[in-house]
Amino acid sequence: MIIKQNNLISFSFGYKKPMSENTSLRKEEHLDICLQQDVAFKEKTTGFERFYFVHNALPEINFSEVDCSTYFLDKPLSFPMMITAITGGFREAEKINAELAQVCEAQQIALGLGSQRQACENSNYWRSFSVVRDKAPTIPIVGNIGAAQVARLSDTEIIQHLVDLIKADALAVHLNPLQEVLQPEGNTHFRGVLAGLEKIVRSLEIPVIVKETGAGISHSVAKQLRQIGVRYVDVSGAGGTSWAGVESYRSKFPALAKKFWDWGIPTALSILEVSKVKGLRIIASGGISGGLDIAKAIALGADLAGAARILLKTLCLNGIKGLIELLESWKNELKTVMFLTGSKNLAQLKKARLINQNWEDVKSSILRRKH
Ligand SMILES: Cc1cc2nc3c(=O)[nH]c(=O)nc-3n(C[C@H](O)[C@H](O)[C@H](O)COP(=O)(O)O)c2cc1C
Repeated sequence: MIIKQNNLISFSFGYKKPMSENTSLRKEEHLDICLQQDVAFKEKTTGFERFYFVHNALPEINFSEVDCSTYFLDKPLSFPMMITAITGGFREAEKINAELAQVCEAQQIALGLGSQRQACENSNYWRSFSVVRDKAPTIPIVGNIGAAQVARLSDTEIIQHLVDLIKADALAVHLNPLQEVLQPEGNTHFRGVLAGLEKIVRSLEIPVIVKETGAGISHSVAKQLRQIGVRYVDVSGAGGTSWAGVESYRSKFPALAKKFWDWGIPTALSILEVSKVKGLRIIASGGISGGLDIAKAIALGADLAGAARILLKTLCLNGIKGLIELLESWKNELKTVMFLTGSKNLAQLKKARLINQNWEDVKSSILRRKH
């Protein structure tokens, strides 16, 4: 239940909170750290480098015939890509989200917003979220809320409010136990997340996407999610941004966070794990750094790829034009892989042969995916 009073909104996540800047400050700090510090995984990689496409010297197609377009949440995309959740909920976030939305609209790719928790606490920065729909009227836009909030959900009215704020095509719920256990103000009450998720899946008219934030989703988690009706999972695996790394810069006791810097399921392995569960559409994110990664993710079982920090950094360093150029180069790399594997479209790319570092055919291995 949403109650508005003198710019104070209390909501039914099980507590009432006065208008507070804490959430906004935390979001600002996360953004600053991601832009200024090297918070990539140190030793662990995404695992994509373990897989090679089998080159097709007789592709029997023209490069101009290669079509990498797709549909996501019933809307067309020029290639299977989304900018995953980054920010929202403080003053500067409005400009960043407006620019990300402009880029996504120009490129015809999907956009995820950062956690909308702040929009539950007060109305100060609602515009930092709603601006994206004005700038990007035609693309799929995905809202975002955290597992810890979902676990305490007593009714779903507030969730509907978040969705309405951006006319969302889907709502992402992020599972981030690693970050919560390491961050100073973390909330580690994770009992009840599955039940809260089920409530949201049943009550919302739009799909729920369950995502990690850089530690990956396992087969058993994916199975539990499917059982409660979830149809979309963003694996957000290890190998890209380390949220233990980010929190090590905020913690008064950074030793623990540093110990867990490289924790998580590598993105490529997480795709294989999740793709063993029937009926899930998979978004592959966590360390995606180009069109070759996107192509491998799709051949391993994903439907779409996503990236966050590398795209944020490009926007902040090189502006809208620089980000559009980077995404164009990723699209071109993807099309080049498709040409060199004789894949006219993404359905054919899904079937393209991949071998692993032992030169075994990945698709006949024990990790054979659902298709
Ligand atoms: C600055 C920043 C803020 C983020 N905030 C959120 C968030 O609010 N909600 C969420 O689900 N994920 C958030 N993420 C996580 C990303 O969506 C993504 O899952 C993760 O960073 C791994 O992708 P990457 O390796 O491409 O960065 C954030 C990422 C960055 C870089």
